[in-house]
Amino acid sequence: MNKKLELASPHMSDKGYEQKYIKEAFDTNWIAPLGKNVNMFETEMAQKLGVDKCCALSCGTAAIHMALKAAGVKEGDTVFCQSLTFAATSNPITYIGAKPVFIDSEEQTWMMSPDALERAFEKYPDNKYVIVVNLYGLPAKLNEIKAICDKHDAVLIEDAAESLGSKYFGEYTGRFGKYAILSFNGNKIITTSGGGMLLFNFEDYQERYEKVLFWATQSRENRRYYYHKETGYNYRLSNILAGIGRGQLMVLDERVAQKQQIASFYRELFKELEGIELKEPMEGCECNYWLSVAEITHPNIKPLDLIEAFEADNIDSRHIWRPLHTQPVYSECDYIDNGKVSETIFDKGICLPSDTKFNDDDLARIADVIKKLWKEKSN
Ligand SMILES: Cc1ncc(COP(=O)(O)O)c(C=O)c1O
Repeated sequence: MNKKLELASPHMSDKGYEQKYIKEAFDTNWIAPLGKNVNMFETEMAQKLGVDKCCALSCGTAAIHMALKAAGVKEGDTVFCQSLTFAATSNPITYIGAKPVFIDSEEQTWMMSPDALERAFEKYPDNKYVIVVNLYGLPAKLNEIKAICDKHDAVLIEDAAESLGSKYFGEYTGRFGKYAILSFNGNKIITTSGGGMLLFNFEDYQERYEKVLFWATQSRENRRYYYHKETGYNYRLSNILAGIGRGQLMVLDERVAQKQQIASFYRELFKELEGIELKEPMEGCECNYWLSVAEITHPNIKPLDLIEAFEADNIDSRHIWRPLHTQPVYSECDYIDNGKVSETIFDKGICLPSDTKFNDDDLARIADVIKKLWKEKSN
C-alpha cells in the first residue's frame, strides 16, 4: 500500500520550539491548570493578530460558547449563523437554548451572503447576534457584514477557526467580529492537539474577559469554599498545551507560506484540466489555504469520484461541509435562502489534500490521480 497522504495533519516546528516551552512548564511544575505559557500564548497571539485581548480555552467550540454568552445570548434568542460551516459553529447556540437561523452563502466568497443577512433582519428585526465564518481560510465579506450588524445594533461573532493567518484587506481575520474565535484542533494550520481561543476586539474588554474566565473555570464565586451562583464550565487551556501553541505560533507564517505553495501547485495543475477550479479569496484578501478547495464543473466528474480515486491511492480528501440547514439535527430551524448557493457549493466542491508535510513526490502522486481520472472521464 502506498504511504498515506493526509488531508492536513499536525506539523510541529523542526526547531523544537514546542518542546522548549513544554519543558519550561515541567521544570517549573506548572503542568496544570494555568501558568506562564497560557498568559504568554494569549499575549503573543493578541500581538500577532492585533486584537485587544485573547483568552485561551480548551477548544474552538468552547470559545464560541463563551463568545455567545459574553455577547449576551439567552435562552429563546435567535442567532443568525452562516449555514455553510461545521456544526461546531452552531452547536453552542443550542447549548444556551437559543435558536439558530441559518443564512445562505454567496457565490463570490462562498461565505455568508450580505444580501441574505439583510433579508434575515427584515424577517427577524429583533435579532441581536450574528456568526460569520471564514471557511477554509477564505475571508467572508467582513466589512459589509459588520456594517449590516452595526446598522441593526447586532453583535458580530467571527468564527476564524479555519482562517488563522488569512488577511482581509491587509488585516488578519479574527479582527472583525466584536468577538472572534480560533481553533487549535489537530488538523488546523497550527495545533495544540486540542485547543481554542476567544478574541476580544474592543478596548474595554476587561469586564467581559473576567466574566469569561469565571464561566470557564466553573463559575466559582470568590469565597473560601466552593460556592456557585451560575452554571460553570471547565474550558481553560492547560499550560502544557499552551506551550505547544506558543511554539506553533512561531511557525505560523511558515505554515501559511507552505499552504500557499500547495494552493499554487493546484492552481497550476488545474490550468491543464477542464472543469475544475481552485477557489480563490476575493481580490484584496489573502487566504491561508488551510485546505485548498476547488469547484468541479466537469460534466462527467463529481466530487465523490475524485474522493474515491484518491481513496484508492490511500490519499485523504473530503466533501465540503454540508450546509447546516440541511442537517437533520437542525431541521426545525429557519433558513434564509440566497438561491441555494451553499447547497450548490456542497454539491460541486471538494477539499483537496493540503498537508504541509507533503514533498514533491507526494504532490506528483496527487497530480497523477487527478490527471488519470480526468483522462478516463473526458473521453
Ligand atoms: C469552522 C469551525 N468552527 C469551529 C470549530 C471548532 O473548533 P474545535 O474543534 O477546536 O472545537 C472548527 C474546527 O473543528 C471549525 O472548523
